[in-house]
This record gives sequence, C-alpha cells and structure tokens, in this order.
Amino acid sequence: MKNKILIPFSKPFQLDYAVVGKKLVKVLKSSKWSKGKYVEEFERSFAKYLGVRYAIAVSSCTSGLTLILASLDKAGEVIVPGFAFPAVANAVIWSGLKPVFVDVDPIYGNIDPLQVERAVSKKTVAILPVCNYGFPADFDKLEKISKKYHIPLIVDSAQSFGTLYKGKKCGGFGNAEVFSLSPSKIITSAEGGVVTTNNKKIAEFIRKGRNYGKADNELFQYAGLSCRLSEFHSIVGLETLKKIRQILKSRTEIARKYYDDLKGCSGITLPVLADNMKPSFNFFVVYLCSGRSVSRRDRVLKDLDANGIEARNLFYPPVYKHPAFKQYTSLGFQLKVCEKLASQCITLPLYPGMSGKNVRKISNIIKKNCNH
Ligand SMILES: Cc1ncc(COP(=O)(O)O)c(C=O)c1O
Repeated sequence: MKNKILIPFSKPFQLDYAVVGKKLVKVLKSSKWSKGKYVEEFERSFAKYLGVRYAIAVSSCTSGLTLILASLDKAGEVIVPGFAFPAVANAVIWSGLKPVFVDVDPIYGNIDPLQVERAVSKKTVAILPVCNYGFPADFDKLEKISKKYHIPLIVDSAQSFGTLYKGKKCGGFGNAEVFSLSPSKIITSAEGGVVTTNNKKIAEFIRKGRNYGKADNELFQYAGLSCRLSEFHSIVGLETLKKIRQILKSRTEIARKYYDDLKGCSGITLPVLADNMKPSFNFFVVYLCSGRSVSRRDRVLKDLDANGIEARNLFYPPVYKHPAFKQYTSLGFQLKVCEKLASQCITLPLYPGMSGKNVRKISNIIKKNCNH
C-alpha cells in the first residue's frame, strides 16, 4: 500500500475561487464554451508577457509540437535529447518523422549542441531541444547550428515558462516554442498548451491546424487536429497568468532554500545556478553521486515515500529505453550522459507556497541518505 501523501510533488497555484468561479459560471450560462473571448485574451496576455508576436493556445504541449512539426511538411529525422519527458518523441512520431536521440550535457541534462551538430544529416528536418526542469537549453549554440544548416529549431518549453536565457525569456527562441499548461507546470489551465512564435506562417498554420486544418472559407486545407483550448481552460490559464510574478518569486525562493539546505551534502550534485540564466524551477532535481546505482536511488525514494513525500525520478529511463521508441534505435543503443543522469535523478516537491519547514524536512532526508 502507498503511504499517505503529506507533501505533494506539485500543486497548482491557488487562485481566488470567487473571481474564477464567477467567470466560469458566466461562460457556463452562455452559448460560447469554445472559440470565444477568453482564449483570445489568454493568447494576447501570453504573447505580451513573453514578448513574442504570436501565441496560439492548443489542447496540450504534445499537440502543439505535433502541429509545428507537421507544418514543416517534410519527411525525415528530428534530433531530440535522449534524456527528457518522452512526449517530445511522441510528437515527432505522430508527425510521421523519425526521432534521432542525442546525448545531453551533464550539468543541466539539456541537449548537447556538440552532439546535435554531429547528428545533423541530409535527413534532418528539425532540431528539438527541451528545457529540462526549467533550465534553458544552450540557445546561442543551437540557433547557430540551426542557421548554419538551415534546419528549423523548435523548442519544447513545456517546463520553462518564465525561464530567462541571457536576459531573454523562453518563448522567442528558434522558429517556435511550445509550453504545457498541465497541472504540474508553471502556468496551468488544468490541461492545455501554447505555441509561441514570431513567424506569421507558422502561427497561421497552427491556428488552422488546431481546428482540423480548416480555412476561413470552411474548406479543410490540410488534415489538421482538433486541439483547441476551451473557454473554461482559458479562464483558468488567464487568471493564473495574472499571478505569474508571485508564482515565479515563490518557486525561486523555495528552490534557493533547497540549494541552501542541501549545501555541503557530499553525495549529491545540483544543476549550477549560473549568472547567464534564470530558471523557472518547474521541477527540482537532485542527482545522486552513485555511479549508475538505481537501487540506491530507489532506497532514497522509498524513504521519502515512507515520510509522506511524493518525489519522482524524472526522467527515468532515458527516452529511447521506453518500449514505444526502441524501434528507432539499434540494439544496445546507449548515450552515456543520458544513462547516468536518468539513473541518478530524483525530483523533489516544489510548488508555489510550499513551506520552508517542508523543504527542510525533505532536505534532511536527502542528507541522511546521501552524506558520505
Ligand atoms: C518536456 C515536456 N514535453 C511535453 C510534455 C507534455 O505536455 P502535455 O501534457 O501538455 O502534452 C511535458 C509534460 O510534462 C513535458 O515536460
């Protein structure tokens, strides 16, 4: 039997129920449950906050990624990280493309530009980095490679709303980015996603593509998806977005408390907090310095669970080891850093408003298990 959860892994920001409820009821009583003013307002606010020209709301990050890849209208390969949330590869496959897994950097677990450049071939139709845990990918190098080989750069920013890279917010890198609005994310609307881009052509494709591929003249121009964001979801997203400063401030304070509490713990490493970036801290990862010992990591997870703490091991196993993707690699395929990080990672609870006392409690369990 599972232990009772005392500290959840994640928790959406608690909105003012009276304000949100009033709006939801108003929509409920109307005839406009979809394609109404709230989705438009949400998209405008989203684009304004990120400083991008277009934000198009969709039903999930996965559907947004699938549509962007479909907009390329090409057959071939997409370069993706081997260490990430696997939905990135789902989108590639649903677009009729083949994922090519490459290794990641050992500090942030994000795609390694050197490995990306090595993997580029005549068949490459896109490069698709992920900002793991809300740490930005190495955009300078990735954009350089994208320009050098004329290959679109599409960013899975599911976890990086509010992330800054060299002072610039995620949302405007590469050809397009996609955010997730699922409950564990920085901005949530229960479920949903948002595509951001400065490219009019991509924006128009996504706008039609989320609505079956239908043009204004009612003709289906291409076989799109049905993946709109309802008015109800848009209200929740919009109200959450209004609290973004508070959300990011709270997340950053909690993450810094973890960093302070875990300082000097010899059996773990943490992603380096560098001056050229500001992470969103969507998830808080700890890497155990234990070679590839999965059993050690599982012991720590068990101890956390016994204390009512809901921790996870995002992202284990490496993407290419999931049954769904094995056919895209050769037998015994391995990426060294992906294997290492996947076996060492533990992701700890972090959500807006989490108490310092709970951070300390969790940190003490990590220290008890990991101090040599
Ligand atoms: C990196 C990444 N990509 C894609 C997704 C899928 O998001 P959605 O559920 O909105 O499709 C997630 C969800 O956690 C994610 O973390």
